[in-house]
Amino acid sequence: MKDNFVNHLRPRFISDRALSVYYTFCLGGLSFLAFLMLGITGILLMFHYQPGTSSGFSSVLTIGSVIPYGSVIRNLHYWSAQLMVVTVNLHMVRVVWTHSYKPPKQLNWLVGVGLLVLVLVLDFTGYLLIGSQESGAAATVAANLLKQIPGLGTALAQIALGEPTALSGSTLIVYVWHCVALPLAAFWLQLYHFWRIRRDGGVRPL
Ligand code: HEM
Repeated sequence: MKDNFVNHLRPRFISDRALSVYYTFCLGGLSFLAFLMLGITGILLMFHYQPGTSSGFSSVLTIGSVIPYGSVIRNLHYWSAQLMVVTVNLHMVRVVWTHSYKPPKQLNWLVGVGLLVLVLVLDFTGYLLIGSQESGAAATVAANLLKQIPGLGTALAQIALGEPTALSGSTLIVYVWHCVALPLAAFWLQLYHFWRIRRDGGVRPL
């Protein structure tokens, strides 16, 4: 079991081309680096952020203007998130370009699609947590869109967003999605994504 794990992390043979930075541009690795940065800065932000339609925005202002290094941490979190959205999309373009979505890698392609959705929803819920008037408008649009789904819509909107107001999207439910449920799902899915890369024969031209 231990040997298996070490061999998996550090296989005996890797082709030269797989190591060429011009094949992957390290876009998957950069995405993971941004994810780690988001985890660290996100935990630091949680010490001072207070979710709630009235407290969200004021705590963001406090983080930016009163808490030592608060605005640095907030900016690092914000820009890492934007970087991750860009690198994940470019990573997907590279995978399409090199035809790496074809068998035997088709399952990892689907895992990647799941990761893409998670990354975009994380970015959106983070925007709602700012608690500004714009975030209230965005939450209202999202809730109204979900409510269009026949039968399940109203319940889905409540489960996904709670009760946002037109002036703030920062609800406790969005906070739990953004800070706990979605990051955990993305973390485990990324570990599975990495494991599958080796399982499918490693990164190499097909
Ligand atoms: C959280 C987001 C993601 C992370 C951290 C990530 C990470 C990685 C890493 C580190 C690799 C190794 C090669 C490389 O760096 O390019 C890889 C390969 C791969 N990724 Fe992702 N990925 C993500 C999202 C996606 C998405 C959105 C797709 C497509 C829908 C995707 C599909 C694939 C496939 C098919 C491979 C195998 C490529 C090959 O063997 O050439 N990934 N990923």
